[in-house]
Amino acid sequence: MSKRVAILISGGGSNMVRLVESMVGDHPARPCLVLANDPGAGGLAKASALGVPTAVVDHRLFGPDRAGFEAELTRVLVAHGADILCLAGFMRVLTEGFVTRWQGRMLNIHPSLLPKYRGLHTHARAIAAGEAEAGCTVHEVTAELDGGPVLGQARVPVLPGDTPETLAARVLDQEYRLYPMILRRFAHGQRGRADL
Ligand code: GAR
Repeated sequence: MSKRVAILISGGGSNMVRLVESMVGDHPARPCLVLANDPGAGGLAKASALGVPTAVVDHRLFGPDRAGFEAELTRVLVAHGADILCLAGFMRVLTEGFVTRWQGRMLNIHPSLLPKYRGLHTHARAIAAGEAEAGCTVHEVTAELDGGPVLGQARVPVLPGDTPETLAARVLDQEYRLYPMILRRFAHGQRGRADL
């Protein structure tokens, strides 16, 4: 039986679109839900246009009550029968309770070559450090921020004159190749690392 994949987004959802489009034919998974923490997330309309159910759990309604926010996330995810969670530009830090509940079933894509540049502003930091290479990483999510086991990476050169925007665009093209490839492997039960 196909694995059911929920994709969590906060913004435009361009990675989400690539993941949804990849889950066809003999792929071992199918999308069951696109879940946003922001009702203004542009990816929601894209998911609907692709025929994927959507839901919003607005973190702002929970104020400082992270446990309450995450309990509602889990309720919605369980209601949609999610087996695998893909974080795709989901910009909320998840607490240990949520991560433990979904551990071994949750992936994230991060726009750096982890363990370098965890957190935000990865491209600006890579340029400022004079890196010759940048890239992206798909990893399993653990309670350590951007710290779970690496499932795959893709690399790009940092070119003379790059700005955070030009580098981000070059990395994003690789994100679109890497994340679907790793999700397919993961849904097949393959946990070994595979780089592009
Ligand atoms: C992507 O570049 C993703 O790697 C990054 O946000 C962007 C989302 O774009 N994720 C993080 O920075 C996670 N810390 P998208 O909404 O168009 O897929």
